[in-house]
Amino acid sequence: MTWDPTFFYDTYPRLEPAFAARLDESLGPRDPSVLLQVVRELGLPPDSRVVDVGCGEGAHAVRLATHFGFRVLGIDPVQRHLDLARAARRDLVPDIASRLAFERGTATHVPAVDASLDLVWCRDVMVHVERPDDAFAEFARVLRPGGHVVAFQAVATDLLGADEADWLFDVMGVVPTSADPRVIDDAIARSGLEVVDTIDLSTEWGEWSQEQDGDGGRALLHLARLLRDPGRYRAEFGDAAYDVMLGDCRWQVYRTMGKLGARIDVLRRR
Ligand SMILES: C[S@@+](CC[C@H](N)C(=O)[O-])C[C@H]1O[C@@H](n2cnc3c(N)ncnc32)[C@H](O)[C@@H]1O
Repeated sequence: MTWDPTFFYDTYPRLEPAFAARLDESLGPRDPSVLLQVVRELGLPPDSRVVDVGCGEGAHAVRLATHFGFRVLGIDPVQRHLDLARAARRDLVPDIASRLAFERGTATHVPAVDASLDLVWCRDVMVHVERPDDAFAEFARVLRPGGHVVAFQAVATDLLGADEADWLFDVMGVVPTSADPRVIDDAIARSGLEVVDTIDLSTEWGEWSQEQDGDGGRALLHLARLLRDPGRYRAEFGDAAYDVMLGDCRWQVYRTMGKLGARIDVLRRR
């Protein structure tokens, strides 16, 4: 496109207010509850056996037990996460608490016998896994025939520069190849799991979060402050905390502007 002064200074200014007003209208982004909707559509009965791989502090395991009456094993390699998840479980009503257990495990070592589970839930974890091939093969091992995987993960897009990716992934503990959608596609294909659906969420969760509570814009403001006066924050919180906060703010901004995308993979063991 060649720059056209008549368009730029005459035509465009007449359009601009209406254009901006149109952009103020929501495109109706899906929110994180879309994952629960995906599970609902699987039609699994109460008491179905589920593993939450990389359960963190257990919030989603609790949701799966509460919404669907599943029996959920949350696994995570980080002891602090397991301690917090177990502490939160103690505060739940007995019927829900009895459906939950938390154990140490990883995406490549799920503490479950072969063909014993109805659903593998893996939310926001695969980018941290060194070998997604081994993880999807492990999911196939523990699922009964007809059992499903519902996996959500961030992926790098073509908008993410190589230098941006190098710095961000290093600070956030992301294995660069595991954020490559082609690597994930290959790992899934090699696992033998059938692809039921691949949902491209693009920037939707970032848009939704900004529309809800302005979190994306807040991360952008925090990013500007971190970059303008690093010494202030490094002195108070230390270099390592500064880097993680910078990484987290960049992550949120990048996911809203599409340098990071997101996908849900719904898979089925044949
Ligand atoms: C971004 S958090 C997501 C936590 C939770 N799934 C959620 O969606 O809120 C990533 C989690 O993955 C866990 N994790 C890291 N490497 C893992 C691995 N190889 N296998 C399983 N979990 C892993 C971390 O300990 C952390 O709890």
